[in-house]
Amino acid sequence: MKISGKPYWRLTRSALLIAAFCTGIHWPVSANSYTERHAFSQPDEEMPLKQSLDFHVGNSFFRNPWVKAPASTRARDGLGPLYNTNACQNCHIRDGRGHLPKNQDDNFVSLIIRLSRPAQNKKDTKKQSKHGPLPIPAYGTQLQDFALPGVPAEGQVSLRWTTLNKTFADGDTIQLRQPHFSISKPGYGDLPSSTVLSARIAPPMIGLGLLAAIEDDTLLQWSDPEDLNNDGISGRINWVNLVGSDLPAIGRFGWKAAQPNLKQQTAAAFLNDMGLTSSIFPAPPCTKVQSECLLAQQRSLPDAKAKPEVSDKILEAVTFYSQNLAVPHNNSPVSKSLERRRAQGHQLFLDAHCAQCHKPEIQTGDLALGWLATRLIQPYTDLLLHDMGDALAGGTEEFSASAREWRTPPLWGIGMTKNVHAEGTFLHDGRARTLMEAIVWHGGEAQAARDKVMTMDSAQRQALITFIQSL
Ligand code: HEC
Ligand code: HEC
Repeated sequence: MKISGKPYWRLTRSALLIAAFCTGIHWPVSANSYTERHAFSQPDEEMPLKQSLDFHVGNSFFRNPWVKAPASTRARDGLGPLYNTNACQNCHIRDGRGHLPKNQDDNFVSLIIRLSRPAQNKKDTKKQSKHGPLPIPAYGTQLQDFALPGVPAEGQVSLRWTTLNKTFADGDTIQLRQPHFSISKPGYGDLPSSTVLSARIAPPMIGLGLLAAIEDDTLLQWSDPEDLNNDGISGRINWVNLVGSDLPAIGRFGWKAAQPNLKQQTAAAFLNDMGLTSSIFPAPPCTKVQSECLLAQQRSLPDAKAKPEVSDKILEAVTFYSQNLAVPHNNSPVSKSLERRRAQGHQLFLDAHCAQCHKPEIQTGDLALGWLATRLIQPYTDLLLHDMGDALAGGTEEFSASAREWRTPPLWGIGMTKNVHAEGTFLHDGRARTLMEAIVWHGGEAQAARDKVMTMDSAQRQALITFIQSL
């Protein structure tokens, strides 16, 4: 695998290598594996060179840790009072995905737990579909397991696993593991027993500006909420809250497509994951009863409303960075036999109707940033919600997404997941260790596709995976 040779990247890499050489650091890996580890961290190849500085600035605020205010690094202070971790990159590891803890001693960074209570009446349902998950009074809608000194953290996450075996038609078996999350040491009183938990791992950051550039009309055309074409697949739009507007907007980002655009997604991440206010979300992440949190915020930034912790300039820079991370190209020479296996896998992918949801090709619209507009892209997603069955049901309802519905994740670049971060895992809560486990978990609207895979023999299954790894 080789990242297409871009002058920008060559320059940066040379600079890094020179820096490493001068400082006497022994570069621990070959240039090639270094490139592969950073396969998700390259700028879009069509991004004009003159924007490199914006990309770099965004990258530094994405990668470097934020600190408690007031600090000498004024641009990066304001962390907390409640938070999950101190840098975007801690969860989106090397701009790739997060992972679940390997064992009880490992940490839960790169995972978030959404909290909500079920709707109890029509008023609740209306509120939920307009404003998103119904908060747990003392806790809000996300568990923050870290806090600044003097502020109680909201609790600790515990995880236990159960396993189940599934058998393919040829007799081979595959073991799946199902995570069960719970919260211990609650910092603000017991959570109501009706609290619904929904665990999510950080998804990869590649190609997001291109996904944002797909026109609303394209998604509306694909959506088929009543399954009028009778193919058993009813992609739905998640109509979500666009801050500052009374009208619902089409959701695109997050595992349930609950965020309408990258700027709002970025501002939400700053607030919910790191406790940082912005002009989009000016209130700190404290609920009314979290008095230590409110007090700590008051002390560190008395005029938070007037001057948010994340300035508009930084918010724009990090949004720009999120828009412009390239999807890696696979340019490496391919042997005839590998080519044959990929072609066979491609056919199996089509025969199993995977492409009904994982849409291979899309044209981006013409309203996007110049270089992201009118491009033919191969993301393998329709960005729509699908009922994936009970086994994948994730508790929380989010706007119009039910507990069983998830947004089809893009498959582009997925073959590089383990090169970027060896512990990266698949599906919304990271339960699948391999691509095949992810496929076998499919249910609901994707049950027929999954059943087709269960009838494949081992060579066919391998071909299918080889194809997915080449995307
Ligand atoms: C504590 C871990 C964590 C931190 C820190 C974090 N994220 Fe995320 N990020 C996630 C998770 C989990 C999701 C999926 C959320 C969901 O499904 O609702 C996500 C989703 C996203 C998405 C949507 C990707 C997609 O494919 O739809 C973007 C963009 C994003 N984060 C950017 C950021 C930025 C920018 C920062 C820093 C300001 C950041 N994140 C910090 C965990 C994190
Ligand atoms: C009905 C729509 C639908 C069909 C059909 C479908 N998928 Fe998916 N796929 C999804 C959704 C939605 C998810 C995310 C589920 C989750 O995270 O719980 C997903 C997740 C995945 C993932 C994991 C992606 C990641 O980022 O973790 C892979 C791999 C995958 N699908 C491959 C396939 C293959 C191969 C087929 C055909 C055999 C297929 N899918 C058929 C909707 C579909």
